[in-house]
Amino acid sequence: MGGLILQNQKTEDTKYLEDNYSDLETVFNRAQQKDFTLIDTLHQVQEVVGYLPREAQVMIARNQGIPLSEIYSVVSFYSLFSTEKKGDYNIEVCMGTACYVKGSGDVLDELKEELKIEPGQVTADGKFGLETTRCVGACGMAPVILINGEAHGQVEVDDVSELIADCNSDIED
Ligand code: FES
Repeated sequence: MGGLILQNQKTEDTKYLEDNYSDLETVFNRAQQKDFTLIDTLHQVQEVVGYLPREAQVMIARNQGIPLSEIYSVVSFYSLFSTEKKGDYNIEVCMGTACYVKGSGDVLDELKEELKIEPGQVTADGKFGLETTRCVGACGMAPVILINGEAHGQVEVDDVSELIADCNSDIED
C-alpha cells in the first residue's frame, strides 16, 4: 500500500502522508477492528494529517474498499473536512452580521496585511492559515476570531500584531 504512494511523483501532499504513515496505519487498523464509518475514518485521518488531500482519499479508498468518488463526495459535502493544508495556526475571522458591524472586516484587512495572504491561503512558512467564517455563535463577543478553533472576542485592529506574536512565540517555545 505505501509502495504505491512512494512510486508516484512526490508532491508536498505525499511527503506529508509519508511523514505520518505509521499513524495512518494505526488509524486504518483501528478502523477495521472497530468497524468505523467512513465519516469516522475521514475525521481521524484529518486529525493525523491535518487535511484530506487527494492522496489521502486514495489511501482511504484502498484501505476501506470504498469508491474514491464516494469519499470525494462526502469530503466535499461536509465543511468540517478540508482538502487544503492548514497553517499551524488557522485563523478564522467571523464575518457574520454582528461581527461585521463591529469591525471584523477591518480586522480581516489587518490580518491580510500582516500575514501577506488572502483568505483561503497559508503563509509560505506554513505557520498561519487565514479564513473567513459565518456566525460562530458568540455574537456577544463580537467581533470574534477563532485561532485553531479557540474564540477570541472584542478583537480590534490594534490587537492583531500581538495575537500573531503570541502564536509565533508558542511556535518557538
Ligand atoms: S456574527 Fe460573529 S459570532 Fe455571531
